Amino acid sequence: KMTPAILPSVLSCDFGDMKSELARLTSAGARALHVDVMDGHFVPNLTFGMPIVAGLRRHTELPLDVHLMISDPLRYAPAMVDAGADLLTFHVEAVEDATYTAKEFRKLGVGVGVALDPETPLSDLDGCLSFVDMVLVMSVKAGFGGQPFDSVSLDKLTLLRDNHPGLLLQIDGGINAETIGPARQAGCDLFVVGSALIGRDDYSAALGELDQAVRS
Ligand code: DX5
Ligand code: ZN
Repeated sequence: KMTPAILPSVLSCDFGDMKSELARLTSAGARALHVDVMDGHFVPNLTFGMPIVAGLRRHTELPLDVHLMISDPLRYAPAMVDAGADLLTFHVEAVEDATYTAKEFRKLGVGVGVALDPETPLSDLDGCLSFVDMVLVMSVKAGFGGQPFDSVSLDKLTLLRDNHPGLLLQIDGGINAETIGPARQAGCDLFVVGSALIGRDDYSAALGELDQAVRS
């Protein structure tokens, strides 16, 4: 069974030592990696772009789930796919026409996700949901790791799950052994975990605890 699945976010990794981070995450049983791309414009933080995604692609076979926190995501989407993204998620707040953006992403032959921040109403997704594979419900405002979980995300997950049984649902922000269970109860499939995993010495133990919490 593909879900529930826990996706480590590389945002909190030691970027000077990604080869050993990848080895540790892989041997801990990670099944995909969540990759946070920030442009210093859509969000007030800056991470990395295509060359780093391509570098990850060269050194891991895990699927790369790329979370674009950037303005004008269509401008960079083709290059992100060339760099090795398997699933590409844009923010609804970053585009004028989410339906058009989703359709253009789909033409690139990747899985398509649409993300929304805690303050953004679900109704902003109206129209585009038929053209995406996944909704990323943010449980913190996009931009930084290590922020506390916002439970407004649980209501959104519940509504999405009830109305769209086949849609993949992902949650991102403040997920740990306490918050992962309620998110699962609300119908979530994919759980991004940054600081609660990467902050630990033993990735296997941390992933095991999260896995147990999501299944209980
Ligand atoms: C936040 C990022 C997250 C981040 C989550 O903008 O999208 O993916 O890595 O980190 P934690 O799990 O520490 O909240
Ligand atoms: Zn993310």
